Amino acid sequence: MEDKITFTITRRKLTEILMGLVALFFAGGAIASILKYLWPATAAKGENVEIKIANVDEVPTGSVRKFMFNGKASVLLHMPAGFRAFGSVCTHLGCIASWSPPDNLIICPCHLGKFDPNTGAVVSGPPPSPLPAIDVVVKEGAVYALAWKDPAYVKTISFYAGAA
Ligand code: FES
Repeated sequence: MEDKITFTITRRKLTEILMGLVALFFAGGAIASILKYLWPATAAKGENVEIKIANVDEVPTGSVRKFMFNGKASVLLHMPAGFRAFGSVCTHLGCIASWSPPDNLIICPCHLGKFDPNTGAVVSGPPPSPLPAIDVVVKEGAVYALAWKDPAYVKTISFYAGAA
């Protein structure tokens, strides 16, 4: 008695199977993209998870502290009116903007986009929209980042920020 099982497959059938697997691979990528659009992974990554930025005495008035918030480069500014925080990825083409004390502005070095350090609004230059603001709170002697003020807005500009 022989327990041998044999399959025969034509070259044409093998090609169809391989083409089907390739099509399935690309369709899977497209479906994954649609699902990612419908249910952004930001929540899974812990978007808006409160983080401690710095102790208050480490950021005296007129100084800044860079930090990462939800994977995006961000900056805390201690303005005379209080603490302000923004994502620092420029809304033009994604360079990192930084505080310029002599100008009292947040300036992007790439194309000289300028932002108001109190509001994040565009003052001049090519950026099409403000820097995204982050809610902050001071408690127990430290400054914490709480959440993006407008999470929907952050999603619209995340293209520019890439994975940053
Ligand atoms: S990337 Fe910031 S002004 Fe162009």
